[in-house]
Amino acid sequence: MKIQGVPHRPIEIVPGQKTVRIIDQTLLPHALEWCELATLEAAAEAIKTMQVRGAPLIGATAAYGYFFAVRDDASDVMRARAYDLLMATRPTAVNLRWALNRMHRVVASASLVERAAVAWAEAGAICEEDVRTNHAIGAHGLEIFRKMAAQKPPGSGPLQIVTHCNAGWLACVDWGTAIAPIYQAYDAGINLHVWVSETRPRGQGASLTAWELGQHAVPHTLVVDNEAGHLAQRGLVDVMIVGADRVTSRGDAANKIGTYLKALAAKAHNIPFYVALPVSTIDWTIADGVRDIPIEQRSGREVTHMGGLGADGRRQEVLITPASTPARNDGFDVTPGGLITGLITEHGVYEASAEGLNRLAIQLGRTKA
Ligand code: MRU
Repeated sequence: MKIQGVPHRPIEIVPGQKTVRIIDQTLLPHALEWCELATLEAAAEAIKTMQVRGAPLIGATAAYGYFFAVRDDASDVMRARAYDLLMATRPTAVNLRWALNRMHRVVASASLVERAAVAWAEAGAICEEDVRTNHAIGAHGLEIFRKMAAQKPPGSGPLQIVTHCNAGWLACVDWGTAIAPIYQAYDAGINLHVWVSETRPRGQGASLTAWELGQHAVPHTLVVDNEAGHLAQRGLVDVMIVGADRVTSRGDAANKIGTYLKALAAKAHNIPFYVALPVSTIDWTIADGVRDIPIEQRSGREVTHMGGLGADGRRQEVLITPASTPARNDGFDVTPGGLITGLITEHGVYEASAEGLNRLAIQLGRTKA
């Protein structure tokens, strides 16, 4: 997608180098700064500190981290070290494991001298596939939005869409998952408006989704996280759509904390609630998401403090609670499949149930779902 009219990706190959540069997402929306990654440790650190974040982008960055390790030392000892270091960065987004398993498998089958070239090519392939995948998710979501917009009574205003966190191009290699259908619907001329929920505590909605929708001129309004129920109750929401960090074999979906409450509000008001995801976000090894998806526990400081731009134009962080208030900070929650209207994947839209995912597994040629 474009930044001030110029096409960019949040992870790009540095021309003429075997390195990548990433947009430092901790600095958006107030500063657009690129950061070059050239080592395993730098890639791991960028994921851990959330300079890059979002399930698909975490996977893509890890793939390059793995390449950096193999380029310096192609031994099996180093491959195992790279795998373990990168796997330990963030626990919930299963795309990390998916990308690392893929790198591990492909590189292991190459000779020692070929390994670096194979790893570089595979990391690039993961990125290019992500772009195609997300475009396909967008196309399937576009058809849903097109039908919904056509069914709105004349004069009833734009298609009103709620999204949470950032599942746009900043969270992927391009397009996004949940935001891809929004971009494609907007580009197709569908009259739409997006309610962007701010996503406390780190504010991915406020700082990232609002920024990227603004860059594409998509009409949107920022709301606090608690507003979705109120908007739904007042008839101001037609559809909700979010991304996912891990979806189980029966369709339970882990996504940014606050997603579950939105799904409950959608159910109460009979509003369709969609989860958009690439197949690489499905964890086929587990069914019960509430029991088995690991939820990242983050520092309470993210809850007790808020950061932003001060009047002097410099980034500031302020304490918003009594100094000794304890805070709990679960990074994600799990929405049971029963609350999800459909899973929008690159292969089409599937019911968020064991049957729906089994249908997808058969289509993918998986022997066992
Ligand atoms: O903690 P983050 O910012 O990595 O969380 C990101 C999300 O929860 C996204 O909604 C999810 O990864 C889907 S990204 C296409």
